[in-house]
Amino acid sequence: MPHDFDHKPTVLVTGGAGYIGSHAVLALEAAGYQAVILDNLEYGHKELAEQHLKAKVIVGDTTDSALLNELFNTYKVAAVMHFAAYIAVGESVTEPAKYYRNNVYGTLNLLEAMVAAEVKRLVFSSTCAIYGPPKVVPIPEDHPQNPISPYATSKLMVEKMLLDFQSAYGLQSVCFRYFNAAGADPQGRLGEDHNPETHLIPLVLFAALGKRESISIFGTDYDTRDGTCIRDYIHVSDLADAHVKGVEYLLNGGQTSFFNLGNGSGFTVKEVIEMARQVTGKEIVAVACDRRPGDPPSLVGTSDRAQQTLGWTPQYPDLERIITHAWQWHQKRHA
Ligand SMILES: NC(=O)c1ccc[n+]([C@@H]2O[C@H](COP(=O)([O-])OP(=O)(O)OC[C@H]3O[C@@H](n4cnc5c(N)ncnc54)[C@H](O)[C@@H]3O)[C@@H](O)[C@H]2O)c1
Repeated sequence: MPHDFDHKPTVLVTGGAGYIGSHAVLALEAAGYQAVILDNLEYGHKELAEQHLKAKVIVGDTTDSALLNELFNTYKVAAVMHFAAYIAVGESVTEPAKYYRNNVYGTLNLLEAMVAAEVKRLVFSSTCAIYGPPKVVPIPEDHPQNPISPYATSKLMVEKMLLDFQSAYGLQSVCFRYFNAAGADPQGRLGEDHNPETHLIPLVLFAALGKRESISIFGTDYDTRDGTCIRDYIHVSDLADAHVKGVEYLLNGGQTSFFNLGNGSGFTVKEVIEMARQVTGKEIVAVACDRRPGDPPSLVGTSDRAQQTLGWTPQYPDLERIITHAWQWHQKRHA
């Protein structure tokens, strides 16, 4: 079914000054869409967005109803990509209220403003953490849902709200359950800059840059090929591309759906460190540490549903290119 716009429409991107959101805006603009960013800049980088994106950056919060209403009155928004959230799993355990307020209440507020403005298409950043410890690997979308952190629970609560908003208000959504986002824009314009950083690949590259002495390996006695945890790394530009396809699916009449986004194969912590040594040519000291509570041995997902329904194919499935692009970015960013 064709959609009812003469020109490619405007997409509101919450959290669009953050890591994944900024790459999604880049992809939207490359595909001919207009984007408007709403970001409170608590963790976003306005200067990067303004340097590399055409989108206007509106500094504000998803919990601000008046601002959202004004925004939907000002721009003819056809769809929303919703990245804005707090993302630190450990912090969510000690400060759950902060996570439920931002991730759940902030989203509820956004959804209410969308319903009031009759904007009925949303692409949502969910996570593979909603599955909890996997019972089968690779993990399919119909795997049981047992989140073990407030962060993951906050994402699952939004997924449930989205089903209710579909039934009651006809708001259609695409929920993308990402595995481990990694890499950077292949042209080096944007990349990952979280503070604090908790993700493995940037931390390994910080060790290569001499910004930290070593990289800790949490657990070397797992039942995996080399004893360290296996994770599914997905290139951020592939995630961004999936988001554009998610918007197109909704604009063409697609109904609420849930998709894993991963590569379907995983790499161990030791393999990531070894690849980073090869890519950077640096020594990178690794230190074996105890397991962390709650880390499953292997987290790998099937993404066949996204590939079949959305026609999405990852362009950068190989770890070498993921780490190469990240390395190019970090060298430039920390020069
Ligand atoms: N990075 C990953 O590997 C990963 C994995 C699974 C899911 N996700 C999800 O993807 C999304 C983006 O993650 P990211 O890694 O780009 O994080 P990020 O912190 O770089 O980006 C989030 C952005 O949202 C903004 N923000 C936060 N709360 C806001 C609010 N209430 N109002 C307005 N702006 C707000 C921040 O300033 C930041 O720019 C998040 O929803 C996260 O939960 C990320």
